[in-house]
Amino acid sequence: MSEVRIGVIGTGVMGTDHARKLAGGIPGARLTAVQDFDAARASALSRELDVIALAQADDLIAHPEVDAVLVCSPDGTHAALGLKAIAAGKPVMIEKPLAAERTEAEAILHAEMAAGRRLVQVGYMRRFDPGYAEMRRVVANGEIGAPLFLHCQHRNESSPSYLTSDLIIASSAGHEFDAARFVLGEEIASATVISPPEPRHAPGRKPQFIVLQSASGAVVDIEVYTDARYGYDVQAELVCETGTLSLRPGPPTSLRHAARDGLVVPGDWRARFADAYRLQFEAWILSILTGRTNEGSTAWDGYMTMLVTDACLKAWRSGARVEVEQPDRPAFYR
Ligand SMILES: NC(=O)c1ccc[n+]([C@@H]2O[C@H](COP(=O)([O-])OP(=O)(O)OC[C@H]3O[C@@H](n4cnc5c(N)ncnc54)[C@H](O)[C@@H]3O)[C@@H](O)[C@H]2O)c1
Repeated sequence: MSEVRIGVIGTGVMGTDHARKLAGGIPGARLTAVQDFDAARASALSRELDVIALAQADDLIAHPEVDAVLVCSPDGTHAALGLKAIAAGKPVMIEKPLAAERTEAEAILHAEMAAGRRLVQVGYMRRFDPGYAEMRRVVANGEIGAPLFLHCQHRNESSPSYLTSDLIIASSAGHEFDAARFVLGEEIASATVISPPEPRHAPGRKPQFIVLQSASGAVVDIEVYTDARYGYDVQAELVCETGTLSLRPGPPTSLRHAARDGLVVPGDWRARFADAYRLQFEAWILSILTGRTNEGSTAWDGYMTMLVTDACLKAWRSGARVEVEQPDRPAFYR
């Protein structure tokens, strides 16, 4: 195979952004088909990108001009669509999270192991962000000693009305959990969660402050505030024994305008992580073409992130420190 023909399921915010990237020149990739529950939305994108629009996800997965599937529909659809792609023997990238329910995630692990080859990648794209990738490299090489702290901050400009305090943990914080496992190169052992009061402009949504401890004892603190109003702002500082490493997000220029001097904060994740999404697709396509694995999240990583999420939800509801379940990693995922 010299080219991977891709079909995208779900052409909302992420599916549209991803489809445009795939159509716009990821080496070895060719976007061939899109599908959405909302046929008009899929048709509009298919016309824009000159690809086929299909009525049903099953048709897209089975289509002879689709070699690999990208699932960008809502969380509750991920597992069923992922399982269908695995059954068809087609590589599938599933936008995060791997699944909505733990049992669904386990079904994916079993199906992939039964298929006998790695077919699933989960869209935790921060692993491909040059900043997080450098943190991982420095930890792996031990250049500044062992990690002690990872301070993380996740702020959104605003959030949809359906986002509740527990969904901030269950959905928004998932990227932080995967990034912490990736940077530290080890599992998360325990979780504690505390919340400040609800901001007056976002009733029903408490920001969250999550403290994780890794298997080796490193402490990860995560602020998630989804209604910060000023923009999308993800920061992280890794503190090791003899030095620190900080992300330097933002554009390469600063803006002086209207009596202000400073960096422009992106409105959402698509601009902030544009390079990470592109690099993630490049790595995914290369893996499909060569059969070699990449740094991306496997189904196992997606599952372990769900177990961290479960522990955080229990910790939030109980106010107690909760141990993260540690199932044995199957040889297939080592
Ligand atoms: N990696 C990231 O940075 C990131 C960021 C945001 C969202 N996400 C994830 O991406 C996924 C999509 O999020 P979004 O913000 O694009 O949502 P969205 O609501 O904008 O788009 C979802 C689309 O899926 C369609 N859809 C619903 N059910 C479907 C089905 N059964 N088959 C086909 N299409 C279906 C909807 O009509 C809609 O067009 C979610 O799982 C979300 O968690 C990831």
